[in-house]
Amino acid sequence: MTFKPLVFSGVQPTGHLHLGNYLGALRKFVALQDSHDCIYCVVDLHSLTATLVHDDLADQTRAITAAFLASGIDPQKHIVFNQSRVPQHAELAWIFNCVARIGWMNRMTQFKDKAGKDRENASLGLLAYPSLMAADILVYRATHVPVGDDQKQHLELTRDIAAKFNNDFSRRIGELGVGQPVEMGEETVNGFFPLTEPLIEGPATRVMSLRDGTRKMSKSDPSDLSRINLTDDADQIARKIKKAKTDPEPLPSDLEGLAGRPEAENLVGIYAALADTTRAAVIGDFGGRQFSEFKPALAELAVEKLAPVSAEMRRITADHAYVDGVLRAGGERAAALAEATMRDVRDIVGLLQG
Ligand code: AMP
Ligand code: TRP
Repeated sequence: MTFKPLVFSGVQPTGHLHLGNYLGALRKFVALQDSHDCIYCVVDLHSLTATLVHDDLADQTRAITAAFLASGIDPQKHIVFNQSRVPQHAELAWIFNCVARIGWMNRMTQFKDKAGKDRENASLGLLAYPSLMAADILVYRATHVPVGDDQKQHLELTRDIAAKFNNDFSRRIGELGVGQPVEMGEETVNGFFPLTEPLIEGPATRVMSLRDGTRKMSKSDPSDLSRINLTDDADQIARKIKKAKTDPEPLPSDLEGLAGRPEAENLVGIYAALADTTRAAVIGDFGGRQFSEFKPALAELAVEKLAPVSAEMRRITADHAYVDGVLRAGGERAAALAEATMRDVRDIVGLLQG
């Protein structure tokens, strides 16, 4: 027997979701529902790593949940919940803190960016963030994780943690008979955790700022014109696209012509992702045309695709009882799965239970 295919992903309840989150993550979550069992989690414990004190963590958690549901995730078929309801995540993260090495964490570019110059003063949680992320995934022994490009390094670390755990405990895993064949490079070992595959592909794995095509579209950018929020109305969306930075040349007639033109490349990628087509097809339609023609077409497409999601999100966000019910039911299903894994993990590590 090998690991059953299972999709897991998480989004932090911090700030508003933007077009990058939608195209890089949410739309992929929705697409995977037909072919896989999926678990989608609002990772509220991760939000404590940057700032411990939040005024509205519960409402932000509901808003992200509403975005999941408004995008089309089905909470009956799949599992939707918030991380802190399932304490097994934090329990496994502790064990992973003892598997992972400080050097591994120190190398994470997200940690370096977020901690800035004063690393000594960053929270220990910010350093250990990837260990909790690995636990989120591996407490379900999930095999596939859809994310944007910025999470690639964290997923490599998740594989490193799984591999080291499998190696360090190979004898116990064998004795207890809880292993599965795991391919590690050339050889196949009897391991407990799968080496999870990232799912990062498509035309919008890294949506860039509308004001600067070399920077990622981000919640933390001070300029609201840099991003399209899922809560923006049709006028705001159209205005931001109209004001998006571009160069003076018309769109090129082939894909190679996008090289060295980050703003043009970004807008073409956004169009392709929203229209569910390729960048080559967009260039096929718009090659040689001016931005003054392309931008209104893009704005119309963005409004057509995003306005229904944003309206549905507002409707669901207001219904606390419904959202809380989804999270409660999802949390119960998730906890049952997570506890089954943790019973084996406690045995493997040698902790006394039962
Ligand atoms: P975050 O909001 O940082 O928790 O990210 C939630 C998900 O959105 C993750 O899978 C990220 O990789 C993805 N994401 C965030 N920003 C972008 C972006 N600019 N382009 C594509 N995906 C993104
Ligand atoms: N680190 C991810 C982000 O900032 C959020 C996250 C936490 C996550 N745990 C996860 C994503 C597990 C995928 C799987 O976007």
